[in-house]
Amino acid sequence: MCGIVGYNGKKNATEIVINGLKKLEYRGYDSAGISLVKDGKLITNKEVGRIKNLEESFDFSSLNSNNAIGHTRWATHGVPSKINAHPHVSNDESIAVVHNGIIENYVELRDELTEKGYNFKSQTDTEVIPNLISENYNGDILDAVFKSIDSLKGAYALGIIDGNEPDRLIAVRHSSPLIFAIDKDGYLIASDITSVIEHTNKIIYLEDGDVVDIREDSYTIYDANHNKIEREILEVDYSSQDASKEGYDHFLIKEIHEQPKVLRDVISVKHKDYKINLEDAAFTKEEIENFNKIFITACGTAFHAGEVGKFAIEKLVKVPVVAEIASEFRYKNMFIDDKSLVILVSQSGETADTLAALKEAKKHGAKVLAITNVVGSTIAREADKVIYCYAGPEISVASTKAYTTQVISLYFMAMDIALKAEKISQDEVKEIIENLEKIPSQIEEILEDKENFKEIADEIKDAKSIFYTGRSLDYITAKEGALKLKEISYIHTEAFPSGELKHGSIALIEEGTPVISVATQKDVLEKTLSNNQELTARGAKVISIIENNNVFSKDISEDIIEIPETMDLLTPLLAVIPEQLIAYYTSLLLGNDVDKPRNLAKSVTVE
Ligand code: AGP
Ligand code: GLU
Repeated sequence: MCGIVGYNGKKNATEIVINGLKKLEYRGYDSAGISLVKDGKLITNKEVGRIKNLEESFDFSSLNSNNAIGHTRWATHGVPSKINAHPHVSNDESIAVVHNGIIENYVELRDELTEKGYNFKSQTDTEVIPNLISENYNGDILDAVFKSIDSLKGAYALGIIDGNEPDRLIAVRHSSPLIFAIDKDGYLIASDITSVIEHTNKIIYLEDGDVVDIREDSYTIYDANHNKIEREILEVDYSSQDASKEGYDHFLIKEIHEQPKVLRDVISVKHKDYKINLEDAAFTKEEIENFNKIFITACGTAFHAGEVGKFAIEKLVKVPVVAEIASEFRYKNMFIDDKSLVILVSQSGETADTLAALKEAKKHGAKVLAITNVVGSTIAREADKVIYCYAGPEISVASTKAYTTQVISLYFMAMDIALKAEKISQDEVKEIIENLEKIPSQIEEILEDKENFKEIADEIKDAKSIFYTGRSLDYITAKEGALKLKEISYIHTEAFPSGELKHGSIALIEEGTPVISVATQKDVLEKTLSNNQELTARGAKVISIIENNNVFSKDISEDIIEIPETMDLLTPLLAVIPEQLIAYYTSLLLGNDVDKPRNLAKSVTVE
């Protein structure tokens, strides 16, 4: 949700922090700031808007330091503004704090501190933290931090520096992501690996409750009970060029085009000679027989992947699956028990709503399987089993390659369960995998059709509303298309089950309203075509996504997008590609920031 970077060591901390924040801007970018210690004095600069605004408003060349913390914000409490930007500083201007998360009891703490004479300049929850530390300060910043975090409720990853002790940097991890990195000349803290990997691949994934006391040439980690502990230092296999655009105009179009390669890789590692290989993420036959309920939960695009997973499990395993949005999952009585399997899908592995659903599931004794793209993420570490998507870093806020690799991972998981439950044969598994192996080159075919998508984008870019429709599995794909388009074009979009439109929503159709009809499911094609005719009769401009040789849609569609033919079960992997490209080109034509759309962030680590 936000980006934190800190450095304490022999190099230029100011430069490292500013450059590190740029790598994290995709996580949140409504304002940014840095605090550093120079000549024993704490200096803080912050600015509303992007990191470049911060750079342009201060001359950092004269502000070299060996100890600094920085933050790029995604506001939860208080508008995006300079005064609400982090770092926040204590009233006596000695202690600076950057924070990712939400302090749920900040009002109570703010009132207590106000009674003690503290005053608050910002509207944020965060500002209570430096003043609380100041109130508890008695000559040792670590001791003051221990005392203070015991009073905090909510989620917080913190970076803290203190003008009184200029050679120390304190880091705290509690329900918000924070990593600790060991460089040869010093130490870094960061919200994720993209901002440290150019310096070092020696990473410690901090646990909840961990506090790190970092000096220029040493560090000590304490656990939630404030006891010294050792944490394993991992040498992560991650190259920084993975996080660069590599000649593409935007991360989004790069990641859309990475899908053929990434899907080829994912499919190849998920089986050996058509024998499914989920490594230690697979459940045994006995475990599968012991499950009496299956749930899938996630947010946004990941939820759409989860719904495809629901469809696949129900079709192959022939058992019902409950799919629920994670932010609802936690508050509904889902009747989870110790015979439940709860599947969580999350690209970042840090989404607060999904993490909350994981904790809810474990509270009821359920087995938790995570499908995620980030090794070492919180959800990956707290789940019982993990299937990794191996999509590589997905930087653009709009999720594309993570979605398609999540769907593939869910297909393999469904096949594995169905095979062990003796609901499908090895031959059927082989047939599905053989069709999956064709998908990457079929995606390449679709990517070549970009001129068609540019034309469609030009036709729809000025619409007041754009609708996606579909039946059965196509409705899930329609929902993903609507989300992709709305989140980067800012046009109002909605997805409807084709058959449901006539029950009210068709009133929204005006002359020329664009409706993108996903029409790949052969068993419901004729019904979908009737619905499209109802739309056309009312002036809609129907754009149909159909499989080659599907004659149904050609006669009544304004535009046709033909995709290669595959099994009905696998069409979400192909039909989503035109949706991604239409969203990209529409956003481009509208002059939006394709990779960092307004109001959004890549990983929503607050509830
Ligand atoms: C997808 O394009 C969006 N950026 C958003 O819906 C995202 O899928 C959702 O926030 C879930 O994120 P996660 O996969 O990291 O949990
Ligand atoms: N809750 C804090 C604020 O609104 C931090 C938000 C974030 O994680 O960026 O400033």
